[in-house]
Amino acid sequence: MVSPTYFLINSAFIDNGYAGKLSAIRELCNGEIDIDEIERQLESIESETPSKKNLTKEDIPEIYDPYRPMKKLYNYLIYIVPTFSNPKGGTLPLESRTRLIDIARKYNILIVCDDVYDLLDFNAGKANHSYHKKMVYLDRETLPDGEEFGNVVSNATFSKLLGPGLRTGWQETATPKLAELLASGGANKSGGTPGHFNTTIIGELLKSGKVDKIVANLNAIYSKRAEALKAAVRKYMPKGTSISPVDGGYFAWVTLPEGYDNLKIAEECANHGVILATGDNFEVTGDPLGWGEHGVRVSISYLDESQIEHGIKIWGELCQASRKSPEPVCKDYL
Ligand SMILES: Cc1ncc(COP(=O)(O)O)c(C=O)c1O
Repeated sequence: MVSPTYFLINSAFIDNGYAGKLSAIRELCNGEIDIDEIERQLESIESETPSKKNLTKEDIPEIYDPYRPMKKLYNYLIYIVPTFSNPKGGTLPLESRTRLIDIARKYNILIVCDDVYDLLDFNAGKANHSYHKKMVYLDRETLPDGEEFGNVVSNATFSKLLGPGLRTGWQETATPKLAELLASGGANKSGGTPGHFNTTIIGELLKSGKVDKIVANLNAIYSKRAEALKAAVRKYMPKGTSISPVDGGYFAWVTLPEGYDNLKIAEECANHGVILATGDNFEVTGDPLGWGEHGVRVSISYLDESQIEHGIKIWGELCQASRKSPEPVCKDYL
């Protein structure tokens, strides 16, 4: 799992049998990830316990169901938010997307992309703009001869585009065969999960072009808030504070310089009505990388420009105050 991660996904994996099996891959600056580290980890696991590829129903009789197509079994899973990530706001560069897919093919990995922020691209509509290419499309375009399933599945949602209460999303695969397997998964096959009614309404909104207008409006609002956020960080936060680029999505990642107690300052902020999502909230369960020491996720999805500025001002003042506070003096020596 790319770390820091979308924190709620930890429990989704743990509840599906991955407890104790999750490892963190560091997201570097600007959405790049440590792909060398992924290869090192895979090589080390494979050299100790080589995994069998192309598993057949004889290998897994306990999950074989004669009434459904035989599952495609992957040996590993990578979870990533490649575009405008949650929580760091980063976007994985194209070459790294391609390299990750090559690794996935080599080690029989399924890459699960949470592509939920792609369309909240603040440059959409500008001249020569193109969206960051989804990894599932790269997989499709370069599918090796004879490959029936592909190695990427893309999860997307209308939660960020129309409203989370709709509980409606979609998945894309590189091949029809993998799509068929997803459709015949337990939850979908029961007919209970997909929101048929909401999907019909959204279908009409798509056909009429209203969704495009709503998304363009969101992008116009969020990009203004992103500018306000960056300006406020520059104005009020201590020298040496960094903020990730905010070209789309909901989030930016602010990193405090050395000499500030991030978690203590966040506690103090809460006493002043400013709730900060410190980096420790976004660790991969069981494999922490220490994101809480300096990092904070900030969001532009809820508060308007003046509220954003007001919150950052309070945060900046409390940073300065914490810096200036004298060391406590032991009374015995007075
Ligand atoms: C990366 C990521 N995936 C999934 C979700 C949840 O989406 P939905 O509301 O469609 O369940 C979120 C929402 O915060 C998210 O940030």
